[in-house]
Amino acid sequence: MAMFGSCRLLATASHHPALAAAAISARASSVWSHVEMGPPDPILGVTEAFKRDNNPKKMNLGVGAYRDDSGKPFVLNSVRKAESQIAAKKMDKEYLPIGGLADFTKACAELALGNNSEVIRSGRYITVQTISGTGSLRVGANFLQRFYKNSREVYLPKPSWGNHTPIFRDAGIEVKSYRYYDPKTCGFDFAGAMEDISKLPEQAIILFHACAHNPTGVDPKPEEWKEIAAVVKQRNLFPFFDMAYQGFASGDADRDAWAMRYFVDQGANLVLSQSFAKNMGMYGERVGGFTVICSDADEAKRVESQLKILIRPMYSNPPLNGARIAATIMNTPELRKEWLEEVKQMANRIISMREQLVSNLKKEGSIHNWQHIIDQIGMFCFTGLKQEQVERLTKEFSIYMTKDGRISVAGVTSSNVGYLAHGIHKVSK
Ligand SMILES: Cc1ncc(COP(=O)(O)O)c(C=O)c1O
Repeated sequence: MAMFGSCRLLATASHHPALAAAAISARASSVWSHVEMGPPDPILGVTEAFKRDNNPKKMNLGVGAYRDDSGKPFVLNSVRKAESQIAAKKMDKEYLPIGGLADFTKACAELALGNNSEVIRSGRYITVQTISGTGSLRVGANFLQRFYKNSREVYLPKPSWGNHTPIFRDAGIEVKSYRYYDPKTCGFDFAGAMEDISKLPEQAIILFHACAHNPTGVDPKPEEWKEIAAVVKQRNLFPFFDMAYQGFASGDADRDAWAMRYFVDQGANLVLSQSFAKNMGMYGERVGGFTVICSDADEAKRVESQLKILIRPMYSNPPLNGARIAATIMNTPELRKEWLEEVKQMANRIISMREQLVSNLKKEGSIHNWQHIIDQIGMFCFTGLKQEQVERLTKEFSIYMTKDGRISVAGVTSSNVGYLAHGIHKVSK
């Protein structure tokens, strides 16, 4: 009653100023009166400001979605072909099972672990289809909260993808961090990471970005991963791998999965989140997978039953369309081949933009060492620019990025790389 009453009062208050005070007091008695305005999402905020800018040279380097060399969203040919094949089959639109499309989940696990993986052969794993990488992380966090009895803490690299903290926190897991990025070198703080990891409480959960670390673009080298794996084993830590960019870092899906597979080979029964947003360019289709590696097939069956119990009241079952597309691509040899070539093409364009940015900075006369732009990998680059420099780039050049100086290299093209280098040089010289 109070709610309807207050709405009516607010609607009429603008015509009858005398009613304004009554409207305010009615608002105070509304059931939502205590709800405060939340802060806007930092990345979407960048896009909003970009949209309002009329400068024809404006650049949006905030958002993490691939763009082709003319700055346009890119739909892969393999995706278009799979869509036509699916449409021609005139398939039904029934509900999927709770754990998703079996043709998809099998291919998803094989892509991550490798076709010849002992884990796959012995059936000691379960993969469920999830609502992209975010949904996978959330199902994973909730699963650990319910069943991982040895710790209530997850350690994230510092910094990490902005959504990791709320995902784990909202699932009831305490979020802490370990050193990862070294601002002095714009590279990996290997010594700091090793020191922190070696002191973590035994059996704590530790999150790793499998490749193309977001937001820094900084990945450990294989020798460093080996030492990290050894200390993780020694401390009996529980690894959670987030693999949102398989294939997107180096252009080779097997190479990008190397670190995670190495942990598995060392005996880690880890959990793994996968996303097909970036490597299939299917951002809005929300295709992902969550995998738990178990000690045997029987344990995997029990874990599967509990994952279903967890998922059913969350969203009942996952969406069908994107999983059908991903399964068709991964399970049709010609489409799979074309897809892997397209992934390589996307990765190579990003690598080439990194090189062109550095060579243009040199041409501009910059005397700074920008090698880290080339050494970092994946969609994102931590430029090392300070907040004031980022603000000047936005104000004076209409170049938009997050305040921490992260750019999405996917937003750089052959035609705007020179302008970007010019702007960076002007604010950093
Ligand atoms: C590190 C990392 N994990 C997970 C995701 C999840 O993405 P999505 O939910 O779109 O698959 C992202 C997306 O930016 C990411 O960067």
